[in-house]
Amino acid sequence: MHASVLATATAPVGIFDSGVGGLSVLRHIQTQLLQENLLYFADSGFAPYGGRAEQFIVDRALAITGFLLEHGAKAIVVACNTATAAAIKALRARYPQLLLVGAEPGLKPAAAMTKSNTIGVLATERTLASSKFRHLSEHISASTGVRVLTQACAGLADQIEKGELQSAATAVLVRRYVTPLIAQGADTLVLGCTHYPFVLPLLQDAIRSATSDPVTIIDTGGPIALQLARLLRQHDLLNTSGNPGLLQTFTSGSETALRIALSSLLQLQASIATVAIDEKAIR
Ligand code: DGL
Repeated sequence: MHASVLATATAPVGIFDSGVGGLSVLRHIQTQLLQENLLYFADSGFAPYGGRAEQFIVDRALAITGFLLEHGAKAIVVACNTATAAAIKALRARYPQLLLVGAEPGLKPAAAMTKSNTIGVLATERTLASSKFRHLSEHISASTGVRVLTQACAGLADQIEKGELQSAATAVLVRRYVTPLIAQGADTLVLGCTHYPFVLPLLQDAIRSATSDPVTIIDTGGPIALQLARLLRQHDLLNTSGNPGLLQTFTSGSETALRIALSSLLQLQASIATVAIDEKAIR
């Protein structure tokens, strides 16, 4: 029997990403679900995932999920579009009973909002190359008639992982990726990677220098938190203890880097443990 079958409402929710990007999802979960205890795993020792082979990401996702379940998680949020595209199927197959929420680029809300009938998707190479994304994109185009443009953002998650949220080098990358989408008529940009909300000011600058028309930016952190709340409620697992939720974090990379990311990105302090997870040992 799986751990979540026996879970209690006070058990924590496990959240993971290739690194600090999932913190952009965690902040929505903390805002919407104040009483939930949270475990956050940053796989920063292996980030970025965006240029990695699919099987590598599947192995990491299975290993990290196993780790979070051993630490009592009642539900898992894959706060990473790349890991969701590569591994959500494998996770569902390994843990059929598990309450699992993934991250997917918000093409549907974008298609509903665009007035130019053209949306642009910023994501990692791995996400855009996945069959999951291809199916989603084809479905949206066929059902709405909206043109879906894609832009792989090599190196951008890496800059954010390094804490370079404002640097000239990051600004150059953002501009390089945003400009062609706007030039081709996109009036709605989908942030298809959970790292990207952390460079929102640079995205807005790049948009402003490309067009004076309004451009909508779609981030899926809020809807992911909403979906988690729905799932927990459905299974009677919402934490209603009355106590504010606690956050415990883990990293496979540098403890200092995660400490800095937590305070600079979210103004948070939390307990941090460094862990080495060997996916081969867990498989
Ligand atoms: N944050 C991840 C995502 O949402 C991926 C970044 C990376 O590791 O390349 O896709």
